[in-house]
Amino acid sequence: MSENNMNEEEKKVLLDHDYDGIQEFDFPLPLWWVTTFWLCSLFGAGYFVYYIVLNGPSLKHEYFVEENKVMEQREAFLEELKNFKEESYTTYASSPEMVKHGEYLFRMNCVACHEEKGAGDIGPNLTDEYWLYSDGTPSGIFPFIIEGNPANGMPAWGEFLEEDDLYALTAYIVSIKGTEHENPKDPQGEIPEKE
Ligand code: HEC
Repeated sequence: MSENNMNEEEKKVLLDHDYDGIQEFDFPLPLWWVTTFWLCSLFGAGYFVYYIVLNGPSLKHEYFVEENKVMEQREAFLEELKNFKEESYTTYASSPEMVKHGEYLFRMNCVACHEEKGAGDIGPNLTDEYWLYSDGTPSGIFPFIIEGNPANGMPAWGEFLEEDDLYALTAYIVSIKGTEHENPKDPQGEIPEKE
């Protein structure tokens, strides 16, 4: 295109240099493009300074902080749940339906390790007089079921079952105390001293 065919606008943006007769226009980039470019650059600079120069928190660090928070909440929750309420327990223990419900929960969740009717297998016999972790009373059994001992294979049931269910299970375990079994597991723990 020769300069004679150009309109005023085009003449204004025509660059001086000439490459073998080829000349270029210098149109400015669109505003949206320039804005996006500078915003991205600004973000990149901020990112670099915060994470690289000032050593900002890594994803791993943020993950650990969150994880700690969850662990603390879990502990507080289980601690609260472990408060044994005599009244709630009595309500469950005195209702045959609730003890039956406890038996159902026991079959669903516990027989894999404690065997039918609590005679003991991987986990201890729950029907004999010997106890590892409590004095075998409801107020001792209840918090242990909630906390368990995951390191030895006993899950922390407070995380999976409702408070009502935990009382029903305790009532069921108390109800099978002293029952006879064909192949009971050998005693573990001690016979609690009577007060
Ligand atoms: C995956 C196996 C497993 C399952 C499932 C399991 N337990 Fe246990 N349980 C154990 C083991 C193992 C122990 C002994 C822990 C130890 O020695 O530290 C135990 C211990 C116990 C004790 C303490 C016994 C004592 O002598 O003090 C109670 C009570 C108990 N379990 C109740 C339950 C109840 C209720 C359920 C079901 C909701 C259940 N367990 C499910 C493995 C299991």
